[in-house]
Amino acid sequence: MIRIIGISGSLRQQSFNSALLRAAAEVAPAGVDFEIRSLHEVPLYNQDVEADAGLPAAVIELKDAIAAAAGLVIATPEYNAGIPGVLKNAIDWISRPPADISRILHGKPVALLGATPGGFGTTFVQTAWLPVFRTLRMELWVENGPFYVSGASNVFDEAGRLIDDELRSRLEEYIGAFSKRLV
Ligand code: FNR
Repeated sequence: MIRIIGISGSLRQQSFNSALLRAAAEVAPAGVDFEIRSLHEVPLYNQDVEADAGLPAAVIELKDAIAAAAGLVIATPEYNAGIPGVLKNAIDWISRPPADISRILHGKPVALLGATPGGFGTTFVQTAWLPVFRTLRMELWVENGPFYVSGASNVFDEAGRLIDDELRSRLEEYIGAFSKRLV
């Protein structure tokens, strides 16, 4: 069984990115255990807290889950053409302490998904992730190109289900190819 950890960078109930991540888990091929992890319990990073109390339990759990997984799927919103604080904050915590980075993140295959109601499909934020992945020596999976969702309000219903069949099959192909890379 191949384990993939999925995280969404939106805490919003009706989040398109969380909906896209759930759809990715649904279309994952047999033999893949696609586990979605929430960032709701991850506090704001504070180096004093880290020095005094160590890592919060939610961060330790997330780090262990990522360490045990073959790959990571991140569904990233785009805020002001950049990375939303919620997601960058989580990655910053996960990168602590530096002595753990090699065990948790070095060489970790990561696939990026992004959804926006706008017309440019999270292109800017996906580029904004590049220096972060390079710094942490994560391996951005680019074989199938980027996965952008524009006009997100037209492809999900009110319950957050993906209702666009063409997009679903594109997602299935993408997650299938990423899963093959992890074998
Ligand atoms: C946005 N949004 C947005 N969209 C986009 O395509 N490019 C952008 O630069 C921005 N900037 C931006 C800044 C801030 C502060 C907010 C709150 C929103 C719109 C954004 O894509 C939209 O709110 C999505 O619905 C956010 O993702 P979730 O929560 O649906 O996953």
